[in-house]
Amino acid sequence: MTGTTLRINTESSIGKISPRIYGHFAEHLGRCCYDGLWLGNNPQAAEFVREGFHKEVLTALQALPVPLLRWPGGCYAEHYHWRDGIGPTGERPRRLGMSCGLQVVDDNSLGTHEFMRLCELLGAEPYLAGNLGNGSPQELCDWIEYCNSTTPTTLVQERQANGASKPFGVKLWGIGNENWGCGGNFDSVTYAHEYRRFATMIRHTDPMAELVACGYDDSWNRELLQTLGNKIDLVDHLSIHQYWIKGGPETGFNEDEYYTLLAEAATTEDFIQRTAQIIEEATGGKQRIGVALDEWGVWHPEARNWGDKSNPRTPTTYEQAGTLRDAIAAAIALEGFHRQCRVLSLANLAQVVNVLHAPVMTQGVRMWVTPTYHVLRLHASHIGATALEVEVVQGDNLADGNSAISATASRRENGSVAVTVINKHLSQVGSVRLTGLEDFAGGQGQILTAERPDAQNSLDEPERVQPAALEIHRDGNSWLVEMPPHAVATLVF
Ligand code: AHR
Repeated sequence: MTGTTLRINTESSIGKISPRIYGHFAEHLGRCCYDGLWLGNNPQAAEFVREGFHKEVLTALQALPVPLLRWPGGCYAEHYHWRDGIGPTGERPRRLGMSCGLQVVDDNSLGTHEFMRLCELLGAEPYLAGNLGNGSPQELCDWIEYCNSTTPTTLVQERQANGASKPFGVKLWGIGNENWGCGGNFDSVTYAHEYRRFATMIRHTDPMAELVACGYDDSWNRELLQTLGNKIDLVDHLSIHQYWIKGGPETGFNEDEYYTLLAEAATTEDFIQRTAQIIEEATGGKQRIGVALDEWGVWHPEARNWGDKSNPRTPTTYEQAGTLRDAIAAAIALEGFHRQCRVLSLANLAQVVNVLHAPVMTQGVRMWVTPTYHVLRLHASHIGATALEVEVVQGDNLADGNSAISATASRRENGSVAVTVINKHLSQVGSVRLTGLEDFAGGQGQILTAERPDAQNSLDEPERVQPAALEIHRDGNSWLVEMPPHAVATLVF
């Protein structure tokens, strides 16, 4: 490659990168919650457990950080009855836990209070997904009253008797999940009627609740908002999900598949923009409805029981190899999230432990982190900062016409500027010149790369892919860095 020049406009302001954009998702699916986050109170594992949670996982997630956590599903939420998960653990019912075609016994030991404690330990805002599929407005209103009310009702007294004297203050409530599919196979108009009923009742119970309507594709979203008509003010956020599914196998992919996954990750921004446009048209710009990217990430064929079954792994555990390529794809998506931070109100990587695009993997009481974990850590300086405009002044394009080198930048209140640079090229080094940062005296860089893009960490090799220091050189009014192929780096000035 000939070299890329990026201009960082430190005077610009796209908007604030809300911590909610760096959210995560924990579903009762596979080993995400049980056996991942939650080990329970097994006396033999006592030294590895803190209040039932996997101690090392907690520490890793605290460092990530996890500003927002959505629970308990996913499709699981559409079978979940919250009362099953409160009260003395030993007395909780054992239910059929169902999501994505799996059926397991769920002993409900991880219920509302445990989840709230997890959020407290992680410093995460809780986001609860309500059951519209086989639940009722009354059931969801009761959960909200139980969690949030200060009025001394029987439900509130029950919460207090269960150990929470103060309300949990949950703001974000999802009214269903994927109701176009696993959440009841609704059509958009019927769901709109159901949504209106649920949301009306919930607003009476807690007028401060932020309600998330279930979106889907463009035509569903348009029809849903149109059907709500003058009751569109019942919607605070419209959820969409995007999984990248076209990148071939999880490891051992070819060049074409490598670039296909990265290109698919980039389309996430288009989806956010299109959804925001549909919202704008429906509200006439008079009301703010955020785009809630409730679930995003890569979903490899090995971890699916649907679609392309060329690489099945049976039984489906929803676990997959997390490689450097996946981490680069995540960085590409995050670049788009920053550019769309005015309209994107929240986003949750799916899922937080073990399942799908997980930053953390476990085996029993042991754990390791994936390259995506490191990429998220490399983005930590952007959380809560102001997104800045970045221009590719000159550079080399990939076959799809997009620049091989791209970047996102943000400014913190203390004046520091963070720039995250991606070299998407599979095999070529990129020399990167950064302009617009001449007033800074210096910067510190960290880079994530590996000898091959399908490199991954594992229990035996937990540090195969990990960040290293990156040198930054001054050249007149600009700064220079050398980006190896398939790499992500953050420079903080
Ligand atoms: O994250 C796995 C599943 O993907 C969720 O349960 C569902 O919402 C989506 O289809």
